[in-house]
Amino acid sequence: MSEAVRTVLQADSGTAKDATPETDAGFLWDFWYPAVRSSAIRGRRLVTAMLLEVPLVLGRTAEGRAFAMRDSCPHRGIPLSYGHFDGQTLECSYHGWRFDACTARCVEIPSLTSQDKLKVERIFAGHYPCEERDGYVWVYMNAPGTRLPDTVPAAPSLPVFSVKYKITHLDCELPSHVDQGIIGLMDPAHGPFVHQSWFWRSKRSIHEKQKQFEPIPYGFRMSPHSPSSNSAPYQLLKRITGEGVTTTIDFVLPNMRLEEIHSGKMWFSSRATVTPVRRDLCRIDFVAAWNLPFLPVFLFRMFGKTFLRQDQETMIKQAEGLKHDPKLMLIDDADRPAKWYFALKANLLEARRTGAAMEHPMAGPVTLRWRS
Ligand code: FES
Ligand SMILES: [Fe+2]
Repeated sequence: MSEAVRTVLQADSGTAKDATPETDAGFLWDFWYPAVRSSAIRGRRLVTAMLLEVPLVLGRTAEGRAFAMRDSCPHRGIPLSYGHFDGQTLECSYHGWRFDACTARCVEIPSLTSQDKLKVERIFAGHYPCEERDGYVWVYMNAPGTRLPDTVPAAPSLPVFSVKYKITHLDCELPSHVDQGIIGLMDPAHGPFVHQSWFWRSKRSIHEKQKQFEPIPYGFRMSPHSPSSNSAPYQLLKRITGEGVTTTIDFVLPNMRLEEIHSGKMWFSSRATVTPVRRDLCRIDFVAAWNLPFLPVFLFRMFGKTFLRQDQETMIKQAEGLKHDPKLMLIDDADRPAKWYFALKANLLEARRTGAAMEHPMAGPVTLRWRS
């Protein structure tokens, strides 16, 4: 008997567990991840996305609420995204089973007769909590085969510091495992080599730096400091406001780098998330908001795109090398943030396994030194 047939038979007798094989691709489940931009789901259009190797179908109800379902009909597995959405229920393209979009509960099986005893309302398609923030549709990815917790934490939102501000979004795909994407994101030593630009810095401006880091829940913070003196934009900001500039950079599990820059009443806030799509593909979603009057959105996007492209080109080259499974190393102090990331991740998984409180890999504030 084939595996698929056995699964169906078990499902009929009511004993089947989730038929999805749980493979360990090094993903962190039970967190929010940005799936698509809010603007991608309009009208009755269905869009597909993949998060942590889970295919999703997303849409928006007639009332404007975003929803996310597993893109697979629980009957025979055809992607639900081929079906028809009427603003409330999604109808599968194969046998017409209909599912409520917000709860994923089955509301109709057209082939049933009045004699049939099947309880339609007990059938569910896969369903994930969904919230919109900062122009993204966030999806809470609970681990396969687990139930959602009674209360799901709030989805992340970008800190902003005035009523009026500009905001913009950029994204780029990296052909790498999420771990490589993340350690690339917080790597302080690649700047002078990868991001050499007339407007940013050159290899010649490399100098010794010393930064203080402190533990924060699920992550670490580069304590508030005056930004690097070899970065032109910071120098410009200082000259315009006539006040000191401070920047704070946080990394928070599962995948988030937050940066805040303040100078007098001027502020800039950004967030980069690295989201696992598949084990060999991740995506950086970058959102930035600011009230700096001299920084138009188009100009920022121009710089931002250059930056992301430089990182992306590097990661494409790196992926070429990683195919051959080389031995890698992390050195002190420049790679210490990467070491903290791996330790945070391991400790979180261990705490979830044992039910004990999560141990933080940092005992207290630490000063790191490197040249960049
Ligand atoms: S496969 Fe969806 S209704 Fe049959
Ligand atoms: Fe970079």
